[in-house]
Amino acid sequence: MKKIEDYFVPWLKGVKMYISPHIELAWQNIKLHRMMSNENPFPPSLKVMEAINSYGKIANRYPDQGTAVRSTIAQINGIGGPQNVLIGNGSSEVYDIIWRSFVQPGEEIIQHTPCFGIYKLRCTVVGGKLISVPMIYNESGFHFDPDSIIKAITPKTRIIVIANPNNPTGNFMDNGGFVKVAETGIPFVVDEAYVEYAGPGKSQFGLIKKYPNVIITRTLSKAYGLAGIRFGYALGTKEVIAQIAASLIPWNVGTIPMWAALAALEDQDSLKKRVEFNNSQVRYFEEELKDVPGLKVFHSYGNYILFDGKEAGKKGDDMVALAQERGLIFRPQAPMYGSDGFFRITIGSEEENKMAVQVIKEFFSS
Ligand SMILES: Cc1ncc(COP(=O)(O)O)c(C=O)c1O
Repeated sequence: MKKIEDYFVPWLKGVKMYISPHIELAWQNIKLHRMMSNENPFPPSLKVMEAINSYGKIANRYPDQGTAVRSTIAQINGIGGPQNVLIGNGSSEVYDIIWRSFVQPGEEIIQHTPCFGIYKLRCTVVGGKLISVPMIYNESGFHFDPDSIIKAITPKTRIIVIANPNNPTGNFMDNGGFVKVAETGIPFVVDEAYVEYAGPGKSQFGLIKKYPNVIITRTLSKAYGLAGIRFGYALGTKEVIAQIAASLIPWNVGTIPMWAALAALEDQDSLKKRVEFNNSQVRYFEEELKDVPGLKVFHSYGNYILFDGKEAGKKGDDMVALAQERGLIFRPQAPMYGSDGFFRITIGSEEENKMAVQVIKEFFSS
């Protein structure tokens, strides 16, 4: 008789459940300041809290397919209607649905590294092969490399995914690079989790009209500040969205998240304040830390900043450890480009940002 292990799909064997150690640490030590997961430092607005409360009262009822929130998303983005919008339990679920729709075991997804880890995790689950094309890193910082991405295409390529702006590097690819990749006709996922911080002018969603292979993903976890609610979405042509939606789990987005998301999307004043605060704090970090000898500060269009302390002979992991001693959780970064000096912070409250600047200066002056 075969054992239970023999029945698992081969590509899942030995794969472990994904757990974010830094998020676990934060929940177990609620006094630590969370400057590691690109969350928003502000709690939901009153309008969002009212929606959570009023839809909580009818939580005994199943949600619909989210027509109201999908219509609002379409309207905000000036794109067709709800048929152009797919909603998910965070944008992480949206990638999962997209990957399932295009990738069979052994087929390939191209990502541009360093980047968000969930692309890889969901690729593993569908038995896909992840191809990582590194960005160019030189004196002037990180640069997208669309030509190398195109060179990495094989007959097995099913998806190309690029974050706009990228996490953790914080930069955008040029419009010309997006067009080059879109022109290949391969499903091209542009992850715009942080695009609200630089504004809609930086979005690539205009490409959808000319290139039906372009799918834009967004989330309410970042500038809208609803990471714990779990709400993300995709924009695409109505034909592509309809086909991807075939693999949606029915009622995947609950009543409370979809109405909380709608309240947040309608509250553009609150979004504007959060964005202005964030961008002023990015400038604060840059201004305070620009003269620290040997510390590279990478300009970010998101709510996080990447640093490299290699030239000062400092290790990113030691910085993270000292920050934790001082009550702040920073994000370690695996060594890359011959440097173990990288680390990342998320913009926190004003007080947290002051504490962060202080501990970074302390570390680099010792
Ligand atoms: C580039 C990028 N995309 C997507 C997400 C995640 O989003 P969600 O909370 O919507 O699953 C993150 C979160 O850190 C991210 O950095």
